[in-house]
Amino acid sequence: MWAKLRRKTTRMDSFRLARPLLHRLQPETAHDLTLWALKAGLAGRDARKDDPRLATSVLGLKVPNPLGLAAGFDKNAEVIGPMLDLGFGFVEVGSVTPLPQLGNPRPRIFRLPEDRGVINRLGFNNQGLVAAADRLRIWRETGRPGILGVNLGKNKAQEDAAADYAEGARRLGPYADYLTINVSSPNTPGLRALQQREELEAILAAIREAAPGHPPLLLKIAPDLSPEDLEAVCEVALAGKLDGLIAGNTTISRPETLRSPLKGEAGGLSGRPLFDLSTEVLRQAYRLTGGRLTLIGTGGITSGADAYAKIRAGASLVQLYSALVYEGPGLIRRIKDELAALLERDGFASVAEAVGTENA
Ligand code: FNR
Repeated sequence: MWAKLRRKTTRMDSFRLARPLLHRLQPETAHDLTLWALKAGLAGRDARKDDPRLATSVLGLKVPNPLGLAAGFDKNAEVIGPMLDLGFGFVEVGSVTPLPQLGNPRPRIFRLPEDRGVINRLGFNNQGLVAAADRLRIWRETGRPGILGVNLGKNKAQEDAAADYAEGARRLGPYADYLTINVSSPNTPGLRALQQREELEAILAAIREAAPGHPPLLLKIAPDLSPEDLEAVCEVALAGKLDGLIAGNTTISRPETLRSPLKGEAGGLSGRPLFDLSTEVLRQAYRLTGGRLTLIGTGGITSGADAYAKIRAGASLVQLYSALVYEGPGLIRRIKDELAALLERDGFASVAEAVGTENA
């Protein structure tokens, strides 16, 4: 009977059934339960092939569709296969720090349902790079296709930040299709200062030395960067030291429009209230780099129209996390369908053709 019921229950139905329960739990408990269900194979899959319009080639990688899972959902590289099965075109795991870390005291994730937002102050809780490397090796040994990004962080107690990023690149680079240097989480003291030019150059030099054959390197930036700092980051990137930027991480700002009683919690805000700010930073990064750098647009995507707006502002790929909390995995298929329809409506034969066209 269960098998029959399971067959009858689509992904969206099962999330619809589970959501009231999940949202009565503390967000982090709900997340742990979700990871357990994914590992147990209960999440289902998107069985339909992606629209050929959505296929794209970025950083030398063939991606079946431009919608990826943002870092933070799968910090320990435990559910790569299930997330690809749900229809994501690529998955970014992490942030991984060299040593395991507990992160900040709980509660440290807050839902803002009235705003469709999330605030988190996790502080890089993760099992460290030995555990991540083991899982990534096993994943690679399966030979399954799928584009995989690995997002690197630094331990809270480590003063030599460059050493941590270099160690991450050396140990995890061999399994990654691209590496992300995360210097933009607001929950590790001093981390965002690493977006300054000298600090960045030191990190990049250390990575080059420790991991000479590393895969493409992306830098994940904060949406709160000043225009001057964004310009400096773009200059470093254009000098050939980075392959791309992810714009961006959560924000420490709190838009006036927020209605939720939890809006005053400390941490980084993500989800719908982040959309405008993160898209503006992406747009500026595209203008500053004249389309010569790969950009990934992340922040507040909840629909195909949002993904399309980021692509038109300059993103070659997009990512999301927070909208999954409210919409569940059926959202992935929906976004892809809406995006394919928008590309068709506007006469674009591919995602690549639409990138940055808002600036034209
Ligand atoms: C994140 N994000 C994140 N980013 C990162 O680079 N490393 C990380 O470990 C995490 N952890 C994390 C945990 C939680 C609970 C959330 C909600 C977010 C940021 C995430 O990757 C993304 O950049 C932002 O959340 C913006 O995208 P969305 O969520 O608005 O689609």
